Order: sequence, then C-alpha cells, then structure tokens
Amino acid sequence: MSVDHQSPSDFLYSRQGPWPQPCPEHPFGESAGVIHVPVSEALDWWLRVGSRYVTTLLYTPVAYLRGILKPGLAEVSNDEFVSMLTNSMLSKFVKNVFDNKDREIFGSKLDKENIWICDFEPVRVVKTFKGIYASASKVLLLKKGDIFSVIEIYIDETKSIFYPHDEDNWELAKYFVLQGGALCSTLVIHPLLHFPMDSVNAITKTALPKNHILFQLLYPHLRFTLYLEKAVLTFKTSLLMSKWWMPYAPYPGPYIGLRDLLVEGYEGIGTNFSYPPFAYQFEPEFIVGKYGEFHQAYYPVFKKFVTEVLVDLTGTEVFYLSKWADYASAWVPGFPKGPELIRDRELLISTVAYFLFDVSVGHTVDHYNFGKMDIRKIPMRIRHAPPKAGHKIKLDRSKLTKFWDFGKYEMARRLFFQETTKTRLIETEYDFGKRNHILQKFVTEFKNNLRKTDEKLKKDNAQFTPVDDIAASIQF
Ligand SMILES: [Fe+2]
Repeated sequence: MSVDHQSPSDFLYSRQGPWPQPCPEHPFGESAGVIHVPVSEALDWWLRVGSRYVTTLLYTPVAYLRGILKPGLAEVSNDEFVSMLTNSMLSKFVKNVFDNKDREIFGSKLDKENIWICDFEPVRVVKTFKGIYASASKVLLLKKGDIFSVIEIYIDETKSIFYPHDEDNWELAKYFVLQGGALCSTLVIHPLLHFPMDSVNAITKTALPKNHILFQLLYPHLRFTLYLEKAVLTFKTSLLMSKWWMPYAPYPGPYIGLRDLLVEGYEGIGTNFSYPPFAYQFEPEFIVGKYGEFHQAYYPVFKKFVTEVLVDLTGTEVFYLSKWADYASAWVPGFPKGPELIRDRELLISTVAYFLFDVSVGHTVDHYNFGKMDIRKIPMRIRHAPPKAGHKIKLDRSKLTKFWDFGKYEMARRLFFQETTKTRLIETEYDFGKRNHILQKFVTEFKNNLRKTDEKLKKDNAQFTPVDDIAASIQF
C-alpha cells in the first residue's frame, strides 16, 4: 500500500486541532470531552448559536408571568399518559426485558404475555431541593396488537404500587413517572447521542487530511458541536449547574445528583436490563411504535449514501482511515479499531452511517419531540411528596409547582430543549474535491431519498419531525 506524505497544511488545523480528554468537571464515568476548541469554532458558535441564547433570555419575564397566570400542572388522562410513554421520545424507555428487581416488585405478573416495562430507575441518584420531590419509578404496560394500556405504577421512594382505581394517589404517581421521563430523557439517554460523538468529531478534524473522502463526507456534520458541548459540560452558566439564580435551570435538585444521571446513562446500571453501558452503535436501537418506525425509516437512506460515497479509497486514505478508527476507538467504547474497519466494508459503512444518522436525524428528533411536549404535563419539579400506598391524598394540581418552576422550565424549553436548526441536513453541501463530478449525483439522490422518507412517514402518521427541520449536526 503506498502512502503519500502529508504535511501539516494538508490538515484543517495543521494537526494541532481539538482532541478528546477526560472531562475536567467529571473525569470518571462519563464520555471523554473535547475542551480545547479552536477559537474559530468558538466564534462561529457565539455568532450563530450563543447569540440566540442571549436574545431568548429576554422572554424570561413572560415565561414567569405565564407561570403566575396558570399555576400548577395540567390533568393527564390515562390514555394520554400511555400515549406520552409509547408514542414520543419516551418510547425509547419501553422494553420487554425484566431483571431481578423488576421480578421482586412485580412478581409473576411479568410472566403474562405482552407485558412491557417503562423504567425510570436512574432518578434514584437525583438529590432534590427543599420542598421538591422526585422518585425512581417503573410502569407496567400491556400491549394488545399495537395498542398499549397501563396496568400499574411502582414508586420507589415509598415502595408502593398504584393502580388506575387509586384515585388521587394514581394521578400523583403518573406525574412522578412523567418527571422520571423528563429527567431520564434529557440527562440519561439523550446525552448518549451527544457526548461520545464529540471524540469522533474532534479526531476527524485533527487526524484526517482535508482531501480525505471521509473528512469531506463528515465535515459538514461537525459544525457548532464542540463548543456547544463544552458550554454544557463546563460553563458555570450551564443549566446542569442548577443554580437558584438561573432563570433557565428547571431541574429538581443540585448539580451533584444531576451530573450522576449522565453517569447512569454512560456506565449503565449493572443490574438493570433497561440501562446497559454505552457502546457505539451501528444501527438505531429498537424503539417501540411510531417513534421507532421514524428511526428505522431514515437509517437505510444514510447507509445507501455512505455506501455510494466511500468507494475506491486510495492507499493513503485507507492508511488514515485506519488511524482515525484507532484514535476514536481509544476514546469511544465499542468503536471499531483500524484493522477491523479497513478489513470489513460493511462495518465501515455502518460505523459512518450511524454517526451521520446520530448527529442529524437521531439527535434532532428527540429535541423536536420533547420540545413540543406540554411542560405542565411532564414536570421536572413536583412540590408534593410521592404517594404512599394506604395513605389517601387530596390532590390540588395548582399547588404541584410554583410559578418559577414553570418559568425556568419554559425558558429551558425555549433555550435548549426545542429544536433550533441553523444548518439543515437537507441543504448540506459536500465538497468531494476531485471526486465531485462523480459523487454529487449521489448527494442529490440522498436528498431525494430523505424527502421521500419524510413523505412516507407523514402518510404513516410517524413524521416526528419534518425533514426541513432536521439539523445537519448537533447544534442544540
Ligand atoms: Fe441535544
């Protein structure tokens, strides 16, 4: 294999670019972080993304006023509760595997057919502020055909099980489950789409020459991400710091417990089958219902595109591809090593296709979906102790949150949770250099296929985000 000599000027940052390292705030139990981000990327982020945060903050008084005018939480019917769990981002938590703890709690009920579980055990690590409560919880669901119904809820703080006939205790238990959904969505599983990919992002920019076909394919999907992640993970103003004075920090407790939620996601919970440790994926995970259908529909479009682009690699490209994988596999669990990747074309295609899918479709749809949920129905903070079996309560929904709980949550929704696309996947431009004349037709075909997938999903009632709103990179 002949390898051409490359000089520093052949690389984006002259071989001095960003690189992964243990995250300074939390070096153990979390993904590697990329902390030294080039100034040009910081400026780009501040101009296009950070500046929007500053202007959005002007909405703060309105958000708080809305909290005053309409206090507390809104009613969630049982049907809506099931729909929220099984036809949204939360459907990622719906599983049909049961571990020992599930068996201790629910016993032989788990042996019946078509029983599914929705498990929010990671909430156990959350510490709450005075007057605010949270609890780990589990929900048993029954699936008949495509239709789910709810059977019972387990609330861990009080070791109690509730059924739909349990009146106000049941109503309160549902809010604790939904709170678990909000916490585990935003701080346990969604971060796995973000942070492990930062290592791949940095290594691509630093270790692949600019004329490498893989660099040219990935580069448009790497913009804004590194500085965004640095801000979330290390800034004193990050919502993770959860300070009282932050008008956008909606969480129920302080930094310490919240940060542990990220660890629950990355390291997994050894005894809980719903939370395996993070490993790089090569296709989207199985997700029940329409949310899963959305993911499965888009992935083959990426695979086809990558298959068409990554052909006829030169000896130099194969050499750098192998180095790229070796570097990434040192920082990302499950990422293939160089020799494996260059030997197995299918593996190469899935590795690259999944990366592109993750940072665009997979990432955007979570934000789009979560950002549209009614925050009066999926609370982050609950100002009532969890229900206890045998202790009847009278529930006053207007007292379940304070107005500033709503204000902070609404601001976080506007700033961070909802999708705010700057560069669109469907408008991505690729510069394939000397291969442009061959490969641009595949770019056109890729975009046509994205559109067709969008139309098909719309007809199937599974268009969880319109294709025009899907971002090209992780940028929110
Ligand atoms: Fe995100």
